[in-house]
Amino acid sequence: MVFTKFILPAFALASSVLAQSNSSDICDGPSITIASSADAQQIAGCETYDGDVTIDSSAAGQIAINGVQQITGDVKCNNATQLTALTSDQLNSIGGIFSLTGLTILSTLQFNSLTAVNRINWVGLPALQSLNFDQGVSKSNQIYISNTQLNNINGIELTAVGSMDINNNPYLTSVNVNDLTNVTTSLSFSANGRDLEISFPNLQDAANLTFRNVSKVDMPSLANVAGSMGFYSDSFETFSAPNLTQTGGTLAVVDSPDLANLSFPSLTQIGGGFLVANNTNLKAISGFPKLKTVVGALDFTGTFNSVKLPSLTDVRGGSNVQTKSTNTSICDLFDQAHDKGVIKGVNTCITGKANPETNPSATQGGSTSASPSATGKAKNAGVTFGASTPLTGLSALIAAILFI
Ligand SMILES: *[C@@H]1O[C@H](CO)[C@@H](O)[C@H](O)[C@H]1NC(C)=O
Ligand SMILES: *[C@@H]1O[C@H](CO)[C@@H](O)[C@H](O)[C@H]1NC(C)=O
Ligand SMILES: *[C@@H]1O[C@H](CO)[C@@H](O)[C@H](O)[C@H]1NC(C)=O
Ligand SMILES: *[C@@H]1O[C@H](CO)[C@@H](O)[C@H](O)[C@H]1NC(C)=O
Ligand SMILES: *[C@@H]1O[C@H](CO)[C@@H](O)[C@H](O)[C@H]1NC(C)=O
Ligand SMILES: *[C@@H]1O[C@H](CO)[C@@H](O)[C@H](O)[C@H]1NC(C)=O
Ligand SMILES: *[C@@H]1O[C@H](CO)[C@@H](O)[C@H](O)[C@H]1NC(C)=O
Ligand SMILES: *[C@@H]1O[C@H](CO)[C@@H](O)[C@H](O)[C@H]1NC(C)=O
Ligand SMILES: *[C@@H]1O[C@H](CO)[C@@H](O)[C@H](O)[C@H]1NC(C)=O
Repeated sequence: MVFTKFILPAFALASSVLAQSNSSDICDGPSITIASSADAQQIAGCETYDGDVTIDSSAAGQIAINGVQQITGDVKCNNATQLTALTSDQLNSIGGIFSLTGLTILSTLQFNSLTAVNRINWVGLPALQSLNFDQGVSKSNQIYISNTQLNNINGIELTAVGSMDINNNPYLTSVNVNDLTNVTTSLSFSANGRDLEISFPNLQDAANLTFRNVSKVDMPSLANVAGSMGFYSDSFETFSAPNLTQTGGTLAVVDSPDLANLSFPSLTQIGGGFLVANNTNLKAISGFPKLKTVVGALDFTGTFNSVKLPSLTDVRGGSNVQTKSTNTSICDLFDQAHDKGVIKGVNTCITGKANPETNPSATQGGSTSASPSATGKAKNAGVTFGASTPLTGLSALIAAILFI
């Protein structure tokens, strides 16, 4: 098992308690299977149960796992289709996986003391509408919740998490994890309630972020995304990341038909590709006043009438720009940027295109090599992306060095 450092203290405590108990004790595990609350009484006297607890698929009605405070292994229940409630009064940590799958009529999950779970895996809990976790789970490395009837995830009160994937919960309309400051691997939401509103008021550092089919995302404190950040098929009209300064990977905004306004006032560097595609109501690609560097390729397709990237001095990949708009000034801008060495790879720019097409290979890969035979037309006009940005090869190179 791999624990990140924030979860260690709880389990270090657990093992010191364990060291004092008798080796023949039932509390030493390695595993127990229970089908009733009476069965669970066998471990009620254990402060720490050192092993796995499996709830048999024949379990029916309500099961209470009372008394025990720590379980070092897994707590698992699969296919107990007659189980209605699973409760525990004193259990505060689960060192392995808390896995509940295929529990057709489970409607109550009440763990009054639970605060630390290494991994949560809840899949196929179609009768579960809410969690009753009085203390709130504040430490977890990995959370996967799919196919439940949850309306919210109140009770998951994390301060940090490795990865969290919440998908296919059709009644989920609200997620607010107030104390979450750090996501170290990934956060992903997809195919939940149509009106899902997500709020992470204190999230500062994240790795990969993916938001699919959501109606609102609020991350006012987000400062750094180490991986990629993607928005797909969302229904919001605006998205704003006021404090975000950089991404380590691709920034993608795709297929969000109502989106009219993007705002990334602090963003200076995109560490991968920059993809804006198929957002039919997005008429201007703007809202990136400080963006200097795109490490990958740039790919814009849609119906936009203008592009404004006043600080852009370095695109290390190529560019693919295709819009239905007939505003030819857009391509003048890109062609000049290519000629000046801002865009290092091949530049393709087409206005008045009936079916704008993205170039997936460009934004997935890293940089492409510069091509002297690109489509850029030779022009000496001084107009470029930035009114006051010097765009000589040298300054582009300096920008590149500074932002590596
Ligand atoms: C440990 O085992 C000894 C002898 O087997 C017994 O006397 C004692 O009560 C046990 N202690 C605990 C905490 O179970
Ligand atoms: C649960 O039931 C499903 C379908 O009835 C089956 O495919 C799956 O293997 C079962 N899982 C376990 C752990 O028994
Ligand atoms: C988030 O976690 C990473 C990796 O552990 C760490 O470098 C960073 O400082 C943390 N950020 C915050 C805001 O705690
Ligand atoms: C983002 O996810 C990819 C796999 O999808 C993984 O390889 C990468 O390490 C993640 N990025 C970070 C910063 O954790
Ligand atoms: C979510 O978006 C995808 C496309 O990105 C779409 O295929 C799917 O139907 C949507 N799901 C829901 C539940 O809205
Ligand atoms: C945004 O960043 C600034 C400067 O680092 C900081 O003072 C401010 O508190 C941040 N805003 C939020 C909402 O976190
Ligand atoms: C876009 O959103 C930002 C931040 O929410 C706002 O300041 C700006 O005025 C909006 N722009 C337009 C054109 O609506
Ligand atoms: C944009 O829409 C077109 C036509 O529906 C589709 O072929 C293309 O794959 C879409 N691009 C992206 C990045 O979703
Ligand atoms: C045409 O595009 C240029 C460059 O983005 C922009 O400055 C101008 O306002 C656009 N014209 C119209 C009519 O939208």
